[in-house]
Amino acid sequence: MDQAEQLRNIIKRQNRVKHLARVITVTSGKGGVGKSNVSVNLAIQLSRMGERVVVFDADFGLANIEIMLGVRPKYNLADMMYRGKALQDVISPGPDNIGFISGGSGLKELTNLDRDQIQNLVRMMYELDGIADIVIIDTGAGISNTVMDLVLASEEVLLVATPEPTSITDAYALLKTLCRHKEFYANHAKIWMIANRTHGYKEGNELFEKLDAVAAKFLKLDMGYLGYIPYDEKLPKAVMRQQPVTVVYPNAVSSKAIYELALYLNNGEGRQARVSGKGLSGLITRMFRGGY
Ligand SMILES: Nc1ncnc2c1ncn2[C@@H]1O[C@H](COP(=O)(O)OP(=O)(O)O)[C@@H](O)[C@H]1O
Ligand SMILES: [Mg+2]
Repeated sequence: MDQAEQLRNIIKRQNRVKHLARVITVTSGKGGVGKSNVSVNLAIQLSRMGERVVVFDADFGLANIEIMLGVRPKYNLADMMYRGKALQDVISPGPDNIGFISGGSGLKELTNLDRDQIQNLVRMMYELDGIADIVIIDTGAGISNTVMDLVLASEEVLLVATPEPTSITDAYALLKTLCRHKEFYANHAKIWMIANRTHGYKEGNELFEKLDAVAAKFLKLDMGYLGYIPYDEKLPKAVMRQQPVTVVYPNAVSSKAIYELALYLNNGEGRQARVSGKGLSGLITRMFRGGY
C-alpha cells in the first residue's frame, strides 16, 4: 500500500465514523429556577475542560441567553431555516470559546415544517454534530408542545429544581407528563436532577431524595443526581452585569459548584450517555418522525 492509498483509506474511515455531539437538554417544571444560568455556565466550564460546546437557546419566549451574554446574534435559527443562512452564520461566539445559537422564532414554527424543511434542518444539525462535542439546549419551562417534543426526543435531560415547594411539585408534574409518553421509555433517556439555589449540600440531597422517591414509586423512573448549586449572591450580580458568573466571578461558590457538575458530566458515570448518543441530528430526526 503506498502512502497516497493509506491516506485515502484514513479519510474514508474518518468519514464513516461520523462525529456526533453529546446533546444535553436543560429543562424544569417552572420558570426562574436557573436553567439559562446553568446552561451557559455549564457550557463555559465544559469548554474550559477542552470540549467544543454550543449552547442552543430554545426558550423562544424570552431571549434569555443573549441578554445574559450581552451579545446580539446577527442571525438565528429561523434565518438558517427560511432565509438560507449557513450554520456558521447563526453560531455567535460567546465567552471562553463557547458558541451560541438563538432559536429566534424558528422554533415556534417547528411544528409546521414541510418535508424539505425538516430534511434541511436535520442536515444542518448533522453539520453541527460534526463541529461540536457537546450541545446544551436551554428550553423554556413547562409543557409547551415544542419543549415537550424536544425533551421527549432527548437522550440526556438535566432537570433543574430548587427547594421551594412549588418547584418540586412542578418538577414532578413535568416528569409525570414525560412518563405518559411511551417514546420516552423507548428512548432510554437519562435524567439528571440539579438542585439549584440550595443552602448547602444537605438541602440539595434532601431535594433529590424527595423527588426521586416519588418518581421511583409512582412513575417507576430512575433518576440520577448530578449535584447542587448553592444560593450565591454573586450570581444575580453577574446577571445584572450581563456576564456569566463563571466569567466575572470564577471563584464564586456557584462557579465552583458548576465546575463540579461539569466534571461529573464529563467523567465516569456522567460520560456513559455519550457512547450511545445519536447526536443532535438523531434528536431532530426522532422529533419529527415520531419514530423514537
Ligand atoms: N444559584 C443561584 N443563586 C442565586 N440566585 C440564582 C441562582 N440561580 C439562579 N438565580 C437567580 O434566578 C434568576 C433566574 O435564573 P434563570 O437562569 O434565568 O432561570 P430560568 O432560565 O430557569 O428561567 C437569575 O437571574 C438569578 O437572579
Ligand atoms: Mg431561561
